[in-house]
Amino acid sequence: MAKSEKKNVFLVTGAASGIGAAAIRLLLADGARVCAADMQRIGLDGIAPKQLDNLKTIRCDVSKETDCKRAVADTVKAFGGLDSVLHFAGIHSVQSWEELDADEFAKLYAVNVIGSFLITKAAGQYMKDHGGGAIVMTGSGSMNSGGTGGNGRGGPAYTATKGAIIALHRSMARSLGPHGIRVNAVSPGSTTTAMTADYSEEALTNVARRTALGRIGRADEIAAVAIFLCSDKASYISGEIVNVNGGGSFGI
Ligand SMILES: NC(=O)c1ccc[n+]([C@@H]2O[C@H](COP(=O)([O-])OP(=O)(O)OC[C@H]3O[C@@H](n4cnc5c(N)ncnc54)[C@H](O)[C@@H]3O)[C@@H](O)[C@H]2O)c1
Repeated sequence: MAKSEKKNVFLVTGAASGIGAAAIRLLLADGARVCAADMQRIGLDGIAPKQLDNLKTIRCDVSKETDCKRAVADTVKAFGGLDSVLHFAGIHSVQSWEELDADEFAKLYAVNVIGSFLITKAAGQYMKDHGGGAIVMTGSGSMNSGGTGGNGRGGPAYTATKGAIIALHRSMARSLGPHGIRVNAVSPGSTTTAMTADYSEEALTNVARRTALGRIGRADEIAAVAIFLCSDKASYISGEIVNVNGGGSFGI
């Protein structure tokens, strides 16, 4: 079988919360077929009953190769193919350099970096024999700013793993490009999700001030750009990082 007939089958990781949860809702509203993967239970709030036929939810720990392979196989089994992967699953760490130890660093690396590799490897192995596809990984503005640790910005472990994801996505873009598979990344600025829920008001105000638009992002604003990167309108974009941060890449 080639790509799914309508080219609208997505595997979305991190789908239980935040940007991933917003993505599955946007996709379903647009008629896409979606396999939603997460370690947490995936809630169905805001999803119309008639859209449920186009949704499969699965439990998947992206740091485990068997889970990633199963996620791809489950998607293909449910919907007859796999066209795009939106990989949002990730964990945060605000520990400062003095608090951070090797165990915390390794935990972040396993989920954020190795997880990004394993889901891309599993999808790539399917897509290369089935007409290509598109994959989007997720960086973070903190990989540019350096973060600072503490409440309100990623610490060294988070920042380093997000930088590694960007190097990884370029390597995978080169590896998979000859097979017709595009690999891109979105790099969100601070966005209102569970990940930022315990930021203090002061931290959120400071982050908002650093953007040109003067506000924090919404999850659907990040998800929409990732979805665009999978569309045919982005057919000549690969190995790119798209900042989605309200103009937070420059200035103070
Ligand atoms: N929210 C922000 O301000 C922000 C900024 C920059 C980058 N990001 C990135 O965006 C992505 C989505 O984050 P979010 O803000 O929606 O956070 P979130 O915490 O709301 O959602 C992350 C999801 O990933 C899932 N997850 C964690 N570990 C997993 C694993 N091993 N396997 C499968 N699923 C796992 C969680 O269960 C959760 O549902 C992350 O990669 C994050 O680093 C977020």
